[in-house]
Amino acid sequence: MMNQDEMKQAVAKAALDYVSDKIYSDSIIGIGTGSTANFFIDILTKLKGRFDGTVASSDASAKRLKQHGITVYDLNSTKSLDIYVDGADEANKQLELIKGGGAALTREKIVAATAREFVCIADESKLVDQLGAFPLPVEVIPMARSHVARQLVKLGGDPVFREGVITDNGNIILDVFNFPIDNPIKTEEQINNIVGVVTNGIFAQRPADVLLLGTPTGIKTVTA
Ligand code: A5P
Repeated sequence: MMNQDEMKQAVAKAALDYVSDKIYSDSIIGIGTGSTANFFIDILTKLKGRFDGTVASSDASAKRLKQHGITVYDLNSTKSLDIYVDGADEANKQLELIKGGGAALTREKIVAATAREFVCIADESKLVDQLGAFPLPVEVIPMARSHVARQLVKLGGDPVFREGVITDNGNIILDVFNFPIDNPIKTEEQINNIVGVVTNGIFAQRPADVLLLGTPTGIKTVTA
């Protein structure tokens, strides 16, 4: 039986095969953040020379890519991305996600928005019937922290300040506990409308297009 890391590794390999069929010599690949994305970065070297470069969703991923000698572009200096590969903290069967466990949600959402196809890679523990058991990350402008927290309480959640974490964009994270999400598209929009919120970790307006799921018996491909 595969353990969780082996499942993440297997799913990264499946993503490599998937991406390999879809890229051209001028392709730009969007790269996510987290331990599953790291496995993907580490094997992406196998496709070196078959694509132009990458755009990274965090400073950490950019650093790892460069260590492997893979070109990392600034998003503003590229054309739109062919494909984006990233993990998730939760996914439902509609391929709506919760992301941001690694505090990279805003750049991840920006990169996802510019990509033609979003391939989500995860081990099977991430697949849920309803989003929200994982505390929902919300990136907030520091001076708006108390205001946003009060509004999140009004929406029914329990926001907790993530101690010691400053995002790549210089902001703070509130994690919203006890917040089952019945209607991800609506809740994503409601939270985005709170003044001071930069982004919330619900990826429903732009869900994943395909979910490659690592299970103990092999890779499952889920489409909405
Ligand atoms: C980063 O901010 C998150 O959105 C990650 O994609 C998420 O935390 C997945 O991480 P793992 O692959 O480490 O589970």
